[in-house]
Amino acid sequence: MAAPVVDAEYLKEIDKAHRDLRALISSKNCAPIMLRLAWHDAGTYDVNTKTGGPNGSIRNEEEYKHSSNKGLKTAIDLCEEVKAKHPKITYADLYQLAGVVAVEVTGGPTIDFIPGRKDSMVSPIEGRLPDANQGASHLREIFKRMGLSDKDIVVLSGGHTLGRAHKERSGFDGPWTQDPLKFDNSYFVELLKKGESDGLKKGESDGLKKGESDGLLKLPTDKALLEDPEFQFYVVLYAKDEDAFFRDYAVSHKKLSELGFIPS
Ligand code: HEM
Repeated sequence: MAAPVVDAEYLKEIDKAHRDLRALISSKNCAPIMLRLAWHDAGTYDVNTKTGGPNGSIRNEEEYKHSSNKGLKTAIDLCEEVKAKHPKITYADLYQLAGVVAVEVTGGPTIDFIPGRKDSMVSPIEGRLPDANQGASHLREIFKRMGLSDKDIVVLSGGHTLGRAHKERSGFDGPWTQDPLKFDNSYFVELLKKGESDGLKKGESDGLKKGESDGLLKLPTDKALLEDPEFQFYVVLYAKDEDAFFRDYAVSHKKLSELGFIPS
């Protein structure tokens, strides 16, 4: 499909959709699932073949039925309400705008948004998104395929400051933080707390089983951020310095939202 013409009229529609998304996301408390939708549409990008990425293809039944996308149909349907009012806007732009607004309305940093993404009806094969049961090398493999760095991996994992896992979707259960509707650095604070209670430098995942009695979730991939020294550096930084987290998050989120997209 062709890229949309980003003229004054398109920009006006983007502005209006921004406002509609703010109202929708606040009233429905659906920021977490909207952020996840944006991430799962974008996170299929392959820098080598230039396929996947933020192109709206997640709206295809074939793709939203991938097991990693369980639950995201709700977010797709919510976005459809906004699309109906602003049909000019591509799905690709709409989903990424929803991700940006989700972070904004929950108190996170402002993420620069440039419109103009093309829609695609071509879905990537299943298996491009990370598997929560794996470790550091898997995370590096997946994010490197997207063209993203160690720092991007850690700072974007801070998106788990929002929302929760659902047993019927991923098999995991519960939130990462005490307030899953507030975007702050508490994901890293909680992760570091656990690391410190287990002896930060040990690098033994079995040690991490202790201290889970606070009921907050740590996926195997979250724990991997504590165990790997390169990743750990950023976990410590973001747990201690929320401004640094917000600054770096805004940069990495913009990068994720623009994978394969060259603004005109
Ligand atoms: C939820 C895995 C990265 C945002 C989840 C869930 C899993 C998961 C298993 C639970 C799904 C459910 O049961 O409903 C991973 C893995 C990642 C990763 C393995 C690799 C680093 C990210 C990134 C973002 C993100 C980069 C955004 C920047 C979210 C959000 C939720 C979520 C907001 C909560 C959704 C809800 O409340 O319904 N993730 N994720 N995740 N993820 Fe991630």
